[in-house]
Amino acid sequence: MHNFTLSMPTKIFFGKSQIDVLGEQIKNHSGTKVLICYGSNRIKESGLLDTITNLLYENNIAYCELSGIQPNPRIRSVRKGIEICRENDVDFILAVGGGSIIDCAKTIAAGVFHDGDPWDFFTDKAKVTDALPIATVLTLAATGSEMNGNAVITNVEAVNKKALRTSMIIPAFSILDPEYTYTVPKYHTAAGTADIMSHVFEQYFSTPEDIFIQTQLAEAILKTTIKYGPVALKEPENYEARANLLFAGTLALNDLLSFGLDGDWAVHVIEHAISAISDLTHGVGLAILTPPWMRYVLDENNVEKLCNLSVNVFEIPSGNNKMEIARQGIDKLQSFFASLEIPARLSEVGIKEDQLEQIAKIAAPSDTIGSFKELNYNDVLEILKTAL
Ligand code: NZQ
Ligand code: ZN
Repeated sequence: MHNFTLSMPTKIFFGKSQIDVLGEQIKNHSGTKVLICYGSNRIKESGLLDTITNLLYENNIAYCELSGIQPNPRIRSVRKGIEICRENDVDFILAVGGGSIIDCAKTIAAGVFHDGDPWDFFTDKAKVTDALPIATVLTLAATGSEMNGNAVITNVEAVNKKALRTSMIIPAFSILDPEYTYTVPKYHTAAGTADIMSHVFEQYFSTPEDIFIQTQLAEAILKTTIKYGPVALKEPENYEARANLLFAGTLALNDLLSFGLDGDWAVHVIEHAISAISDLTHGVGLAILTPPWMRYVLDENNVEKLCNLSVNVFEIPSGNNKMEIARQGIDKLQSFFASLEIPARLSEVGIKEDQLEQIAKIAAPSDTIGSFKELNYNDVLEILKTAL
C-alpha cells in the first residue's frame, strides 16, 4: 500500500429533513450572498427551491440563481455563472441536483478567481488557486461529486469532456436526503447505479496488490448496489433502497477506496470521450463499456482479481479454472446491467462505426490510459468495436 494523507473535509448531513441545517451551515462558512445552481424547473415544481430560498431568507442570506445547467454540463454555463458571481459579489455557491449541477458549481467557484477562461483549468493552461466555498443538496445517487474534488465539464466547441481535480473545490458540506431521490426516473436510477459500480471497479482493479482493506470496502459497496439498485427501480419510494444507494454513491468516490492505491480509470476516460461527441448519459456509457473492457484486459497476470470479483461479489462457485470463473463473473455483471434495462451496445445509443476512431483519438490521443492494464489508441479502438 502506498503512503497517503487522509483528509475528508466535507460534512455530510444525511437523512430526512436535514435541509433544516442549510442556513446555519452557510453562515458558518461566512456566506452572505449565495449563487443557487440548478438544472431544469424540476426543483421549482417539487417545492425544493422554495424550501431552500425560505431557509436563506429566514437566515438573512441573499441569493441569486443560475438555472438551465444541462446534464453533461457545458463550459458556457460555467462562464455564465462566473459572470453572475462577479456582478453580484457572490461569496458562496450552492448546487442543487446531481453531479452535473455540482460539477458546474465547483468550476464556477474556482473560475471566479481566474482572469482567463475557465476551460484553461481543463487544458492545464491554468491551475486553480482559490475557490468560493461550495455546498450541495444532492438529488441523485451516482457521482460522489458531493464529497470529492472532481468536476467534469463538456466543451462542445472543442468536442471534449474533461475532468478537473483539486482539493480546493471539495464541498464544505452536503445535504443528502434520500427522499429527494424518490423522483429520479428509472433510466437515471439505473445509470447512477452503473456509475457507482464503475467508480468501485476503477479503484478495485488497481495496483499495488496489498490493498486488502480497500478491496473489502469496495466489494461491500458493489454488493449494496446489486442489492438495492433493482429495488429502487421497482419501488422508487423505498427509503431503505434509496438511502443505501445514496450512501454507496458517496462512499464509492470520496477517496475512501483510493487512498494508498493507483486507480485505473480507463473506462471513464473512454466514456467521457463518447459523451463529448454524443451527449450520452455517463452511467449508460459505463455500463456498455465495462464488460467489454473486462474481457479485453483479462489475462494470466490479472485473472486472480477478476476471479475474486466473480466469487466474492457475483457468487460464482470457486474452483480451479480461474479464467472460466472470471468470465462467468463478467457475464453476470452484463446480465445485471441488462436487468436494469440499460442499453447493452453503443449502436443502441446511436454511436456509428465511423465514429469509433474519433472516440479513441479523444480518449488516448498519444499516451496510454489505465494502470491495471495500460491501453493505447489501438486497444481502445478494439474495446469500442466489441462494445458496438
Ligand atoms: O436538470 P435536473 O432537474 O437536475 O435533472 C436531472 C438530469 O436531467 C435529473 N435529476 C436529478 N435529480 C433528480 C432528477 N430527476 C428527477 N428527480 C430527481 N431527484 O437527472 C438527470 C441527470 O442528472 P445529472 O446531474 O447529469 O446526473 P449525474 O449525477 O449522474 O451526473 C452526471 C455528470 O457527472 C459527471 C458525469 O461525467 C456527468 O457529466 N461525473 C462527475 C464525477 C465527479 N464530479 O466526481 C465523477 C463521475 O465519474 C462523472 O464523470
Ligand atoms: Zn463516473
